[in-house]
Amino acid sequence: MPNAYQQMSTADLDAAIAALEAQTDQIRALGLKLDMARGKPSVEQTDLSRPMLDLLTSESDLTDEGAPADNYGIPDGLPSARRLAADLLGVDAASVLVCGSSSLNLMHDVVVNAYTKGIGGNAPWCTQGEVKFLCPSPGYDRHFAVTERYGIVNIPIAMTADGPDMDEVERLVNSDPQVKGMWCVPKYANPTGITYSDDVVRRIAALEPAAPDFRVFWDNAYIVHDLYDEGDSLLNIFDVLAESGRQNLVYEFASTAKVTFPSSGMAFVTASPADIAEIRAAFSIERVSPEKLSQLAHVRFLHDVEGIRAHMARHAEVLRPRFELVQERLEAGLGDLGIATWTHPHGGYFVSFDGPEGSAKATVAMMAELGVTLTGAGATWPYGKDPHDTNIRIAPTFPSLADLGAALDVFVVAAKLVAARLARAER
Ligand SMILES: Cc1ncc(COP(=O)(O)O)c(C=O)c1O
Repeated sequence: MPNAYQQMSTADLDAAIAALEAQTDQIRALGLKLDMARGKPSVEQTDLSRPMLDLLTSESDLTDEGAPADNYGIPDGLPSARRLAADLLGVDAASVLVCGSSSLNLMHDVVVNAYTKGIGGNAPWCTQGEVKFLCPSPGYDRHFAVTERYGIVNIPIAMTADGPDMDEVERLVNSDPQVKGMWCVPKYANPTGITYSDDVVRRIAALEPAAPDFRVFWDNAYIVHDLYDEGDSLLNIFDVLAESGRQNLVYEFASTAKVTFPSSGMAFVTASPADIAEIRAAFSIERVSPEKLSQLAHVRFLHDVEGIRAHMARHAEVLRPRFELVQERLEAGLGDLGIATWTHPHGGYFVSFDGPEGSAKATVAMMAELGVTLTGAGATWPYGKDPHDTNIRIAPTFPSLADLGAALDVFVVAAKLVAARLARAER
């Protein structure tokens, strides 16, 4: 169906463009410097975790259930940190490694291990010719960057409202032995904010990969990042795998990056017993033992899953008004024009926006020129190539409410002007 600009007479469209250009002139004159680009917690959010910094002092007991946090050893992570991570993921603590502060770092290392050394007794990926990863898109640019860096071919997979297009995933994974992995953010996906449906989780758990060394990289980065008391529910993929007796299909990752302090928390990975043994062996070469003082501070601060949920409810109080402002401003500014759609997530860190075909690069460039930084157009696709140039990732968490409101007002004008110019160019 034609959008509002496409339906206008040429004279009306020219007048609309002139009015929008006048608005951009006014905005330009303000000399704004706003950032709606990266998904970082706001200062109010990181402040919530400051009391954790008072928990470890020179007087503190630095052992956890007898395990020393202040020395080498305990390579799998402190017992109570592993239990906390396991309870959060709903798996057995014996299958969890708590290690480092960045889950992306763990994902990278697991990819590199498979690439250079091989997994499950198979040849290293780097010796198997052209190997491929499936990349539900739009998705997380840093995932795609990891596989791209090692020359793995990133294949975009369409995202539906329920998760990746599973017909396509099954077709590729089950028939092509060169497909070695798939990136997934199953809850409040970056950037769409959607949560995989039960059916999608079950179909992923039931994949019959042609490659014996195929693994799903299940990045549960937003597992507890609900905006409302009633969050989206995601099936525990390890429960589904257990029902069917399947093993060695999924590596799951998460971290406290957006629970406490990004890059200064604890990251964790879980997998089947055989897979986690392999990961443990690989990690044992990279490091003598993980950073455990941070683990100790985290378990003393967060205590248990209920403690994490209570803490996340405080994050939600900060984030809810921001996400609601995005919906309000987009709806008020663009709702009846038919030029764009956007997601309405119940959690996570992003809203995904789609404008008319061929609009995203122009909109992001116009925003930059008007003083508002957005994530680069195309960044949410493998190789930065959004095939239809429609998608823009909106990251509302970091700016203050006032700055976010100002940035969204500029965004509405830019989205309208780009859509109106595209409609004019079609004539
Ligand atoms: C889906 C996803 N995974 C991982 C990360 C990074 O997590 P970490 O800081 O634990 O490496 C992010 C950060 O934006 C993310 O969106």
